[in-house]
Amino acid sequence: MVNIRNQSRFFHAHWGKKATSSGIIESIVAVPDGFSMEGKNFIALWKDDNPVAVLDFLVGYPNPNCLWVGLLLVHGLQKGKSIGTEIVNAVITTTKTAGMKDITLGVIATNTRGIDFWRKIGFVQTGVSNTTLRGEDLEILIFKRTA
Ligand SMILES: CC(C)(COP(=O)(O)OP(=O)(O)OC[C@H]1O[C@@H](n2cnc3c(N)ncnc32)[C@H](O)[C@@H]1OP(=O)(O)O)[C@@H](O)C(=O)NCCC(=O)NCCS
Repeated sequence: MVNIRNQSRFFHAHWGKKATSSGIIESIVAVPDGFSMEGKNFIALWKDDNPVAVLDFLVGYPNPNCLWVGLLLVHGLQKGKSIGTEIVNAVITTTKTAGMKDITLGVIATNTRGIDFWRKIGFVQTGVSNTTLRGEDLEILIFKRTA
């Protein structure tokens, strides 16, 4: 995970420092206030001993019919090979199998490449939210898709 995160130019631009194991562990256990850890999932995908992608999602957030994608990050050397699309397709299948209706996520408004990706695979912007992360004010675009 540290390896994948340090490959990301987008993360460097926003957080400006290298990932640390303790910072990553914080991400792995982070849940919204009042949300049970039971619904938290953090998956690392590997191929031939190399890290390929990480996916973080919450089952039943922000409502019981919804799966929330907290992070999808494909290793810099693996981008553009349809890995992100395949992962999202698996998320869609998982959502349907679990009997849930929607998939939602937030993308930082300056992440134009990420926004293009989600639009291309059928996600539609449904709102905007403002937050402060590590002292930085961020505008977050909320995207949604029916599974
Ligand atoms: C966004 C991200 C997950 C896409 O994963 P990926 O495996 O590279 O995407 P895919 O190869 O499946 O691409 C699917 C389509 O989206 C488009 N796309 C993907 N990444 C893109 C990018 N960075 N810029 C522009 N378009 C992009 C591709 O053109 C592709 O369309 P095509 O098949 O017609 O060529 C990956 O680039 C990434 O990890 N980005 C940094 C983190 C991030 O922004 N995550 C999303 C917010 S949580």
